[in-house]
Amino acid sequence: MQNELDPDRMPKHVAIIMDGNGRWAKKRLLNRIKGHEKGAEAVRIIVRTARKLNIAALTLYAFSTENWQRPQLEISGLMLLLRRFLKSERQTLIENEIRLNTIGQIDRLPKEVRENLEAVMAATANNKKMVLNLALSYGARAEIVDMVKQIAFAAQKGAIDPAAVTPEMVADHLYTRGIPDPDLLIRTSGEMRISNFLLWQIAYSEIFFTPTLWPDFGEDEFVQILENYQNRERRYGAVTST
Ligand code: FPP
Repeated sequence: MQNELDPDRMPKHVAIIMDGNGRWAKKRLLNRIKGHEKGAEAVRIIVRTARKLNIAALTLYAFSTENWQRPQLEISGLMLLLRRFLKSERQTLIENEIRLNTIGQIDRLPKEVRENLEAVMAATANNKKMVLNLALSYGARAEIVDMVKQIAFAAQKGAIDPAAVTPEMVADHLYTRGIPDPDLLIRTSGEMRISNFLLWQIAYSEIFFTPTLWPDFGEDEFVQILENYQNRERRYGAVTST
């Protein structure tokens, strides 16, 4: 792979809102599920590319809390694709030392999906090179509500002093605890919204919107975005010294 990337300045954590599967299918007069199937192939490619480039964490928005409102047939299609993905990728994750993790209200997923997820998470638990973080039945507001409840209950029991709540304590009670905040957030399909994704964690992330529909998103464009990221200057609210 020829690219201009500086291996020392790779983002540690990349998060992606994978959008546009439905439109990809519609343009080809295909069923929406066909778009998700092609989208699952793009997931395989991007996971391999991220690992090859030594990105330490990749978070993919695979199913939102709002997605439960989609037709039952589409939901079951997505769940089936997820199970197929877990089956076909298990060995690749093991061989490439990738740990699978999930964020979201996993208890709302069908039992078979939960069992498949748990099995692959157990098989990859000690892998250290990269974490593949699948956001499933995920919503950032629900995550924040869960965090507030945990901290409020702990304060009620006297385990913590409400006056001593810090940003670090908040981060420690989110689903992403232990994973650094995303340096880079990408959304495909031209929509310029955050759609309830990682609201706390993206406070200082660089954001890229691309018109490419997710099934067409591949290694070359991912590398181009990473090159563009490396050319941006991150100031975290401070000024640059001249
Ligand atoms: C958005 O497209 C995508 C999703 C709702 C789900 C993402 C799922 C996949 C990429 C496939 C399966 C995932 C894994 C991890 C194997 P959309 O349906 O909202 O597209 P539209 O906005 O064009 O209708």
